[in-house]
Amino acid sequence: MVNTSVTLCGIRLDNPIIPASGTFGFGYEFAELYDINLLGSLSIKGTTKEPRFGNPTPRIAECPSGMINSVGLQNPGAEAVLKEELPRLKRCFSKPIMANVSGFSTEEYVTTVERLDTEAQIGWFEINISCPNVHGGGMSFGTSSSAASSVVSAVRRATAKPLIIKLSPNVTDITEIAKACEAAGADGISLINTLLGMRIDLRRKKPVVANRMGGLSGPAVFPVALRMVWQVYEAVRLPIVGMGGVCSAEDVIEMMLAGATAVEVGAANLVDPFACRDIVRKLPEVMAQYGIQNLSDITGGAH
Ligand code: FUM
Repeated sequence: MVNTSVTLCGIRLDNPIIPASGTFGFGYEFAELYDINLLGSLSIKGTTKEPRFGNPTPRIAECPSGMINSVGLQNPGAEAVLKEELPRLKRCFSKPIMANVSGFSTEEYVTTVERLDTEAQIGWFEINISCPNVHGGGMSFGTSSSAASSVVSAVRRATAKPLIIKLSPNVTDITEIAKACEAAGADGISLINTLLGMRIDLRRKKPVVANRMGGLSGPAVFPVALRMVWQVYEAVRLPIVGMGGVCSAEDVIEMMLAGATAVEVGAANLVDPFACRDIVRKLPEVMAQYGIQNLSDITGGAH
């Protein structure tokens, strides 16, 4: 029997598979399809202080081997997440969850984290400083080392729970941002968020997405994500949650060999709602195929 368990910032997971924020709702929606307790954990829909309607439609453009989204952080706001969404999730999921938090100012990140911090089921905060689809927030914090540092140090003072900072690939050197987050008190790094991209509709001769640009995800970005996980693993001592185009148990193992401790699965959930379940089920067989007894032993093993 192989051992799929891993430990992320001091919390044990039965396996490293975590559905990525924005691709799995608040989790309970998927509990209608299968028992989501087989997952390692899940990262909830990105939450802001106030409710957000999101960007104008169309928000999605299909691409070969991927998709572009410009959702614009649509969510019901911290209060409703706490009072309505998390109680629903708790009825069907008994493990620690990752609360993905976004904001438009440092103060907003802090207020949202302070509010959610009261929920015992939240094991980690995933601080999203990398959303490419909003103006004046999101990615603007994650493309400057000093802005990233000031958000992380402010949020650090707001919670004792592990802080995992979600980074943007839309930078010249992702290791500089990761190092700034580490110095400011982060406990982990998750990467990558989506790559800024666009498509043009030939009939209308206009951008497909109303917001003109959006974030590219899916199998097309996997080699870029893997390269960045590799680079960040060599630059910081923090655990890494790798993501970006992960579709199979083989991809999970590749991400871990590059340096990930746990792995988020995103766009694959939008193609197949059973994607995470199937990866969890397949993992032991693929581990045996490659002679892996303990999954936690392979993190960074390719370096
Ligand atoms: O537009 C969005 O809601 C995307 C968020 C993200 O990529 O972090």
